[in-house]
Amino acid sequence: MNTKNQHTLQISTLLNGKYKILKILGHGGFGITYQAQHIYLAEKQVVVKEFFLSGKCVRGNDSLDVQTQGISQNEFENFKKRFLTEAQILSKLKNVPHTLEVSDFFEENNTGYLVMPFVEAEDLGKYLSKQPENRISEKEALAYFAQIATALEAIHKANILHRDIKPANILIGKNGEAYLIDFGAAREFIAEGISQTMTAILTPGYAPLEQYDEHAKRGVTMDIYAMGALLYRMLMGKTPMAAVSRVNAVLVPPMGISTHVSAVIMKAMDMDVVNRFQTVGEMRAVLEGEQKLEIADGVAETQWIEGANGLIVKKEKDKEDSFWLEYIIIPLFFILIIMAFILTTFRGCSE
Ligand SMILES: Nc1ncnc2c1ncn2[C@@H]1O[C@H](COP(=O)(O)OP(=O)(O)O)[C@@H](O)[C@H]1O
Ligand SMILES: [Mg+2]
Repeated sequence: MNTKNQHTLQISTLLNGKYKILKILGHGGFGITYQAQHIYLAEKQVVVKEFFLSGKCVRGNDSLDVQTQGISQNEFENFKKRFLTEAQILSKLKNVPHTLEVSDFFEENNTGYLVMPFVEAEDLGKYLSKQPENRISEKEALAYFAQIATALEAIHKANILHRDIKPANILIGKNGEAYLIDFGAAREFIAEGISQTMTAILTPGYAPLEQYDEHAKRGVTMDIYAMGALLYRMLMGKTPMAAVSRVNAVLVPPMGISTHVSAVIMKAMDMDVVNRFQTVGEMRAVLEGEQKLEIADGVAETQWIEGANGLIVKKEKDKEDSFWLEYIIIPLFFILIIMAFILTTFRGCSE
């Protein structure tokens, strides 16, 4: 995307006296992403992320300054402060595998910026959409999953949630190396269970139901849900049903893949927070077979059939079982009791 709209900075604009904009990579809800060149370190290409709230920020024609629209300057300052605090927290995370280190952050043009290394890569969303049936093999999916899980475990340890894990926020390098990016939605969290006002930023299909509630308790289980959805997307070739739709419908467990992997996806994507894996490490250990998944009786053998709208599920085995029980075994049992009763009465009378 090398387009300029009225809001993006011009190509060649110099930021912080050293980052020269080369290209516009994207505009999300929170900001605009630019590819840039470090002018003193000729070899160094970077990505600069500008804090620019979509629909709430504009840029004047004669100034690079960001102006607000529909929110007060005070509110904007608060968000900007959060963005910069987050950049600062991220910049302290050193050597986290499979993430890109925030190497710099600064304020300019009445907004905030963060800088990270540029990598030659394609985002997983685009990559998946080019594959036959929009999906990849279990082997390949599990390899990406393991890398992203490594990154996520480390950031969770640092008390940071990602909250927007999805294929578009994962970069795949030429050698198959995966990077988790776009911590734009990440917010520091202090402890599991603390309820705080959050901005509702979410991607349907990947966000659990509680993420739709700005005041919900937040925790690592939000990212666990998205990790389940990520596996689903990679293996099934489509985004799973949005959590809000699942309130009135059943998500069909993924079919045509290992039952074990399917069970892991369903546990990670459980609507109930307490039934999900509680840590990324736990999810990974079960997925990789180091730990067994405790599956409730009957769940493992359940046969699911995808019905209309991709919704409904029926357990044929159950149907058969209940048919025998309801129409054959129970009536037969009663007939036998009645016959035994008649026989004993008849014998009693004849004696
Ligand atoms: N460090 C990076 N190196 C290379 N490309 C990147 C990098 N960071 C982001 N991109 C590209 O820019 C796109 C948008 O970046 P992202 O951080 O996801 O912002 P947003 O979703 O807010 O637009 C990504 O999908 C990816 O293609
Ligand atoms: Mg993104």
